[in-house]
Amino acid sequence: MTPLAPVNFEIGPGSTPATAAPVDTRPALIEVQDVSKMFGDRGAEALAMLAAGEDRAAVLARTGTAVGLNHVSFDVAEGEILVVMGLSGSGKSTMLRCLNRLIEPSSGTIRVRGADVTAMAPGVLREFRRKTFGMVFQHFALFPHRTILGNVEFGLEVQGMAKPARRDSAMRAIELVGLKGWDARYPSELSGGMKQRAGLARALAADAAVLLMDEAFSALDPLIRRDMQQELVELQRRLRKTIVFVSHDLDEAIALGGRIVLMKDGAIAQAGTAEAILANPATPYVARFVEHIDVASVLKVGTLTAVPPCVLRPGDDPAAAADRMEAMGCDSALAINAAGRLLGRADLSALRRVPAGQGVDRAVQPCARVPASASVKQALPVVAEEAEPVAVVDDADRLRGTIDRVGIINALARQSRRPAQEATAP
Ligand SMILES: Nc1ncnc2c1ncn2[C@@H]1O[C@H](COP(=O)(O)OP(=O)(O)OP(=O)(O)O)[C@@H](O)[C@H]1O
Ligand SMILES: [Mg+2]
Repeated sequence: MTPLAPVNFEIGPGSTPATAAPVDTRPALIEVQDVSKMFGDRGAEALAMLAAGEDRAAVLARTGTAVGLNHVSFDVAEGEILVVMGLSGSGKSTMLRCLNRLIEPSSGTIRVRGADVTAMAPGVLREFRRKTFGMVFQHFALFPHRTILGNVEFGLEVQGMAKPARRDSAMRAIELVGLKGWDARYPSELSGGMKQRAGLARALAADAAVLLMDEAFSALDPLIRRDMQQELVELQRRLRKTIVFVSHDLDEAIALGGRIVLMKDGAIAQAGTAEAILANPATPYVARFVEHIDVASVLKVGTLTAVPPCVLRPGDDPAAAADRMEAMGCDSALAINAAGRLLGRADLSALRRVPAGQGVDRAVQPCARVPASASVKQALPVVAEEAEPVAVVDDADRLRGTIDRVGIINALARQSRRPAQEATAP
């Protein structure tokens, strides 16, 4: 018989957040290494000034050269949504356009699946760009005299794809973005949100591995924008696209849920998950940037779990288990199977009533659970309903720990205090 306590599953405060693992273990699809971009004739001089510690304003004043990017390095994992964030002029669009060399980097290397994009000859680059990248812009960039279908299939037409095949691909993409039935309409007949769906369909039709989206939802009304964010996340999950999304809006970055590259003055101020940035802002600037963040929508339940004092396992003797629970002051306990999956919850009184010779499972009832990947905001309604700490489970329904109201309130209070304090640092 397995002893009831102490609980020994390898979870609890300080363990790896459930949400960080999938991102970090995926192979890098895009590797950006030490990329700089100077706009102006005296780029070399400008780079030397930056290396000597001068700032962008000084470089511009002396050389007339604008610093677009200043020694930027980061990876984009296969299948992730990476959000490039920052204030206006911080270099977001420049970064995005350097990825497919619509803007030519002044120095540094960009690799996609190991291929050095920065070294490609023009003809090779054109082909590579077309096959690898789809782009979605803020202002839709649809041809007014082409139908939605005509717009969506345009890229494929240019590639010389035969009409039936390109119609097929375009119609599939139109359906994916929820514009079925609108293919014969013209852009002027569509709302802003629908136009952006068409823009997205155009990028999806070519079935490129990477979507580059520059402020793609910024022109939309707030409610429509939120819908589009959710739908993009859904679409990304289904299609396994890699997306680099430029936004100046922190809430949007959080809604998209991936890692964030936060830029300032052409350099990376900090990169990581919203949670990690919030927990440990690298500089006072970053702290100020995340000061007004909606903490509850960033914090993941999996990072706040407590280890439950009592857990029932197959083979536990009901009477002995009930004795241990009583000794530990537990009125009920969660029950797991041999694989660690959550079966439910058993009350102390129900365990006492299990006839001799029967297992603890006789006393187990279904119980509430929240996924470790859920945000505190998503979990709150469930936690608020429950008298007991709520079970937290992973993707395979394995018990990761529990979460309760007090744990949530403490975590929110802790996180809300931190950036404000650091923001006052010099
Ligand atoms: N073609 C250009 N010629 C000269 N300077 C440029 C050019 N493109 C960008 N820059 C400069 O590079 C810097 C970064 O610009 P970028 O467009 O990448 O910013 P951004 O973060 O996308 O801003 P926004 O949020 O306003 O779109 C700015 O200082 C800008 O003035
Ligand atoms: Mg921009």
